[in-house]
Amino acid sequence: MITRMLTGIKSTGTPHLGNILSIVIPSIKMANVRPKDTSFIFIADLHSLIELENIKNIKDSIYKIVATWMAFGLDIDNCIFYRQSDVTEVTELAWYLSCFFSYKRLKLAHAFKSKKNNTVNVGLFYYPILMASDILLYDAEIIPVGKDQIQHIEISRKIANFFNRKINKKLFVLPNPFFKKHTMYINGIDGEKMSKSRNNFIDIFSSSEVLKKNIMKIRTDNKSFKDKKNPKTDYIIYLYKLISTFDEVRNMEKKYILGKYGYMEAKKKLYNHILYKFKFEREKFKFYMKNTNLLDKILNLGAKKAKIIARKKLNIIRKYLNFNSLF
Ligand code: TRP
Repeated sequence: MITRMLTGIKSTGTPHLGNILSIVIPSIKMANVRPKDTSFIFIADLHSLIELENIKNIKDSIYKIVATWMAFGLDIDNCIFYRQSDVTEVTELAWYLSCFFSYKRLKLAHAFKSKKNNTVNVGLFYYPILMASDILLYDAEIIPVGKDQIQHIEISRKIANFFNRKINKKLFVLPNPFFKKHTMYINGIDGEKMSKSRNNFIDIFSSSEVLKKNIMKIRTDNKSFKDKKNPKTDYIIYLYKLISTFDEVRNMEKKYILGKYGYMEAKKKLYNHILYKFKFEREKFKFYMKNTNLLDKILNLGAKKAKIIARKKLNIIRKYLNFNSLF
């Protein structure tokens, strides 16, 4: 079998610049040229339920994520693009997998460990199991993810391996994380990891006013306009670097080092560069968000394709567990 690639984005608000640079763009580059139907891209709406506040915005968030993938040019005829909750086979497999993984080990997962245990729901604890199910259900081997997800892939591997050994058959493919060093970890406007929960993200699809306000909030030191500045420790140039050519960056670096170039100028430059660089994607995004019926069609089509593959795999798994086949 040709190796399969799979990745998902949780439906919590708009995908931000970090998601786009570390997941969306690299995954599209791969998915569009890989053999037909060997790339799986989905919206992890079930995962977003670990925070119940997400329920009210879930539809809007799903549309925004679909519109993002479409705006950046995902070829949906070449891949399988679906919403996780449309393929309920994944929750059944998650149960089976949970019985093949030790409680003690799952307790060590960082997302769970880092929270105060008396306030989290079981869903958060179970999160890595559902994620393993996403991956193992489709025999995916290449998993584009950000750095924070590597441990989850490791757990998926462990479950797959343990399951295979228990039934003495290579039923599950062992997945590997895929990432590029320079995009695996993207920082936000405060220099910390860009994330929705930290509210330090850049939404390239927001209105130009919101985008500008956001960029003006990038944290800097308090050097004045005429001071010489250090390009190595500055967050504006860090963000500019992510989306600019080598020469463009060199140019800005020189201005920093010489002085008489204020942070305000640098921020304006970054703002204009985002508008220029993503002009086309911003227009396409707007178009799709105005035509959500198109997005519904895309998701329905994807769900049908995904379900056929998922159902087949689940029936094979059921056989090994001595359960009946489903039709
Ligand atoms: N946990 C991932 C995130 O928060 C989303 C996700 C769910 C995922 N299932 C996955 C990513 C399977 C890769 C493969 O970003």
